[in-house]
Amino acid sequence: MELLKNLNWRYATKKFDTSKKVSNSDLNKLKEAVQLSVSSYGLQLYKVLIIENPEIREQLKPASWNQSQITDASHLFVFCNYTDATPEAIDGFINQTAKTRKLELERLNGYGDFIKEKLNEKTPEEKTSWLKSQTYLALGNLLNACAELKIDACPMEGFEPEAYNKILDLDNQGLNAAVIAPIGYRHEEDHTIGQQKVRKPMELLFEVV
Ligand SMILES: Cc1cc2nc3c(=O)[nH]c(=O)nc-3n(C[C@H](O)[C@H](O)[C@H](O)COP(=O)(O)O)c2cc1C
Repeated sequence: MELLKNLNWRYATKKFDTSKKVSNSDLNKLKEAVQLSVSSYGLQLYKVLIIENPEIREQLKPASWNQSQITDASHLFVFCNYTDATPEAIDGFINQTAKTRKLELERLNGYGDFIKEKLNEKTPEEKTSWLKSQTYLALGNLLNACAELKIDACPMEGFEPEAYNKILDLDNQGLNAAVIAPIGYRHEEDHTIGQQKVRKPMELLFEVV
């Protein structure tokens, strides 16, 4: 299975080669993999910033525990969840579904109301956690797609979301930086290349009931 080979090849890259850039054609493939990610109800209540600008990345580095990947990687993906699931966003999704699948809008309105009702049952904390968790599914697809293209990546939570929200003007757009991933090519001097993977043994990870 190619996926398993790719998963063994990839690792959370600590040092990127600053001289190597991901091509536009590969970038487009990665964007498509992220676009195809699953999400709860299919709502995709997030936006993904792809940051190339070196000055912005210099500003983000101190807000990212000074991790060098922020400035050294080819591109920096910032997965931002919307801070609220507004009725307008749900209506927009229902409209898009009707248009895409050539269905009568009236046939889908009940489904839209059902989603709104279910989301209203969540506490603000539950809603925030639910909104953030959607971005991790997109992150997973990005990592797997990178591995297939032999592009290195590092998933990261080691950053200050409030600072990112300010620097990237996310607050004003109703967005929040949830998780990030620099992508590019490993530096041959990355001391973590080839390290044995540390994973739970199968018998602890799985239980057949
Ligand atoms: C949500 C998340 C946050 C992470 N944050 C960081 C981080 O801030 N810096 C870093 O170097 N690695 C980070 N990692 C990488 C993990 O430490 C790494 O994926 C794990 O140890 C497994 O190793 P592997 O990815 O090399 O197989 C993060 C991983 C995940 C999934």
